[in-house]
Amino acid sequence: MKINLVEKNIKKLKSDIEIIIINSIENSKDKDILENLCFEAKDEAVVLLAEKKKIYVGCEDDDYESVAVAASTAIKKFASTKFKTAKLVLDNLPLKAVSEGVLLGSYKFDKYKSKKEKAKKQELNICVEKITPELENILTESKIISKAVNKTRDMVNTTPEDFYPNVMADVAKDIADESDLHCKIRGEEYLEKNNMNAMLSVGRASIHESKLIHLAYKPKNAKKKIVLVGKGLTYDSGGLSLKPADFMVTMKMDKGGGCSVLGIMSAVQKLNLPIEVHGIVGAVENMIGGDAYKPDDVLVAKNGKTIEVRNTDAEGRLVLADCLCYAQDEIKDIDYIFDYATLTGACVVGVGQYTTGIMGNNVNLKRDIVSKALSAGEYATSLPFNRYLRKTIKSEVADICNIANSRYGGAITAGLFLENFIYEKNMDKWVHFDIAGPAYVEKPWGYHPYGATGAGVRMTLEFLKNIK
Ligand code: BES
Ligand code: ZN
Ligand code: ZN
Repeated sequence: MKINLVEKNIKKLKSDIEIIIINSIENSKDKDILENLCFEAKDEAVVLLAEKKKIYVGCEDDDYESVAVAASTAIKKFASTKFKTAKLVLDNLPLKAVSEGVLLGSYKFDKYKSKKEKAKKQELNICVEKITPELENILTESKIISKAVNKTRDMVNTTPEDFYPNVMADVAKDIADESDLHCKIRGEEYLEKNNMNAMLSVGRASIHESKLIHLAYKPKNAKKKIVLVGKGLTYDSGGLSLKPADFMVTMKMDKGGGCSVLGIMSAVQKLNLPIEVHGIVGAVENMIGGDAYKPDDVLVAKNGKTIEVRNTDAEGRLVLADCLCYAQDEIKDIDYIFDYATLTGACVVGVGQYTTGIMGNNVNLKRDIVSKALSAGEYATSLPFNRYLRKTIKSEVADICNIANSRYGGAITAGLFLENFIYEKNMDKWVHFDIAGPAYVEKPWGYHPYGATGAGVRMTLEFLKNIK
C-alpha cells in the first residue's frame, strides 16, 4: 500500500473512494443511512457505502491504538475492493498512527500458502492543509519503522525448517549490506575458544551450528553507544526437559527477541540516528539427542560464573548470559544495554499476551521505556526485582541455578538470572525485555494478524530516536 500526503481540499482530490474516520454518526452527512445500517462509531466498526464510494470506520479515541486500529480496519475494507485509490482527511488525527495502522494492518504472511493472493497496487492519499517538513518526516519515519516491524514478523513466522541459525546469520548479512553496517558472524569454534560454554551447550544436540551475530552501526560523531542483545532460539523443543506437545507448537517464535534486534538494526541507518548501535544475537536451536546438555550439568559462562542446569527448557537465559558477557567484553563505554527475549511463560501468565515485561535496576530508565512503548503503539509494564526473589536462584553445587526454587515470579527470577551477567559498571544501563507474550499471538488483535507482531521494534526505535 502506497501512502502519499496531498495538499488539496478533499473535495477537489480525485480518488476512487473516501475513508471517513468518525467517533460519532451525529454530524455525519450520511447519518440516516448509517443509522439504518445500525452502524455505531465504535473501534473496529466499518461499513462500505459502495454507491456513495465511502468507507466509514469507527474510532472511539484519538490515541495511537484507536487510530491505528481504525486505519487498519478501513484499509482492509479498501483492500477487499477493486478500487485503486482512496483518500482520507487527516484533520487532527496523529499521522504516525494512521500510517502505521495502514502499513502494519495490511501485512500478510502467505509464504506457506500454495495459492498466493496477488498484491494489489493500491494507494492512500492523506489530505492535509499544508505539507510541512514535520509531517513529511513523520510519514517517512513511520514507513521505515513499519518495514522493520514487518521484516521482523516475516522472520518470526518462518518455520524452523527454513529458519535456523545459519539462515538467521545470512539475513543479518543482508541487512548489513543493505544498510552499510559492520557484520561479524561467529561459529562454534569461536564460542569454544572464548569460553561461551553456556550458549554452546544449549545448541549441542542440534544438527545446526550455533551462530553469534554481531551487527554494528557506527555513524560519525555518535552521541551515545547502545547495545541490543537478542535471544535467537530458532526452535525451542525444551531439550531433554522436553516440552509437552501442545507447548512446543509456536516455539518457532523463540527467535523473536533476536529477530526484533535484527529488525531494529535494519532501520537505524535509514532513520539516520546519531548514535552507535550494536545488535548481537545468539542464534541457537534447543534440541534433544545423545549429545544434548543435561539437567545436572554445570556450565561455566563467559564471565566465569558457574550455572547448575536443572531444566534444559530454561535455555534462553543461558544463551543470553554468554551474549551479554560478549557484548560487554567487546564493546567499551556502553550507554545502554538492552536484551530482548521470549524468555518465560510466566511473563505471559503475569501480564497477559499483549504486554512486554520490562525489568532492570534503573527505575527511571524502565519508566522511560514503558512510556516510549505506549507512545509507539506497544504495551509494556515494569516488573520489580527484590532481594528475596534474588535468593531463589541460589545453587547448592554451583554459583547459580538456571531455574528458581519456586514457581512464583518466574519472569522476574529469569530477569534476576540475567542480572548475574551484567557487569557492575553497566548495571544501571541495563534493561531486560520479556516479549514472550506479544511476540507471537495465535489470533488477530487490533492491527496485528495471527502470528508474529514484531514486538520490541517500535518501542526501541522510539527510545533510540529520542536519545539526547
Ligand atoms: N521459550 C520459552 C518461554 C516461552 C513460553 C515463550 C511460552 C513464549 C511462550 C522458554 O525457553 C522456556 O521454556 N521457559 C520456561 C522456563 C522454566 C523451565 C523455568 C517456561 O517459561 O516454562
Ligand atoms: Zn525453553
Ligand atoms: Zn526458549
